[in-house]
Amino acid sequence: MDDRFNTAAGWVLFAGIIALGLSSISGKLFKSDRPENMGYPVEVADTAGGAAEMTVAQAMTMEGVDASKGEAVFAKCTACHTVEQGGANGIGPNLWGIMGKPIAGGAPGFAYSSALAEKGGNWDWDNMSEWLKSPRGFANGTKMSFAGLSKIEDRAAVMLYMNANGSSLAVPEFVEAVADEAVDDAAAGPGTVEGAPVDEVEAAGAMGAEQPVSEDLPAPDGE
Ligand code: HEC
Repeated sequence: MDDRFNTAAGWVLFAGIIALGLSSISGKLFKSDRPENMGYPVEVADTAGGAAEMTVAQAMTMEGVDASKGEAVFAKCTACHTVEQGGANGIGPNLWGIMGKPIAGGAPGFAYSSALAEKGGNWDWDNMSEWLKSPRGFANGTKMSFAGLSKIEDRAAVMLYMNANGSSLAVPEFVEAVADEAVDDAAAGPGTVEGAPVDEVEAAGAMGAEQPVSEDLPAPDGE
């Protein structure tokens, strides 16, 4: 038995030595060029604005993107702008009815920079989004010293807010398959959450056998 064990141990030792030798040889043969940065370079999309290619129309289908969110975003603008009809020009021009108006034409009494005045055209959803993303990028030399709104959903919301204040540009429609899906989802509603406890009152209302719905009372609507 002992002999056998020694023989086996010997082979194991031998195999170990061979393996060691091989690994040191192969280490020399295949000099590993370990790159300084391990891993694959991954192109990271600009996550600050959600998907980089999202359009204004698409952003407007996002939950919570509406004029009232836009009003909250507009808090960043009130240091320089008023938006109500007849509002005063401040550091920036009054913005009543700005959507659809000529660029640099929102407040005739205001001294616009030539950078903005020379742009030409009217404000629409796309150029306004570009302007609000980076005023300087849009009109190099503008007087609007504002870094910009990096999130397209913020820009979309604030545009809806401005549109609701004296403009009525048609809201762009997002008509691709994704939009249809979003609409379907919205129509379906949240549905019943499986396993969610049913409110006792609600349950009684739903069964309603001994509780004929009085005409004076609003029918239980499940709220
Ligand atoms: C620091 C002050 C300041 C802030 C903050 C600011 N703006 Fe302005 N804005 C200006 C000035 C100044 C101009 C005129 C730019 C020019 O003439 O180059 C202007 C111009 C504009 C115009 C063009 C108006 C026209 O008649 O064509 C729009 C639209 C506008 N701002 C929207 C906004 C919105 C929306 C915000 C907030 C997200 C904002 N601004 C934040 C100062 C500001």
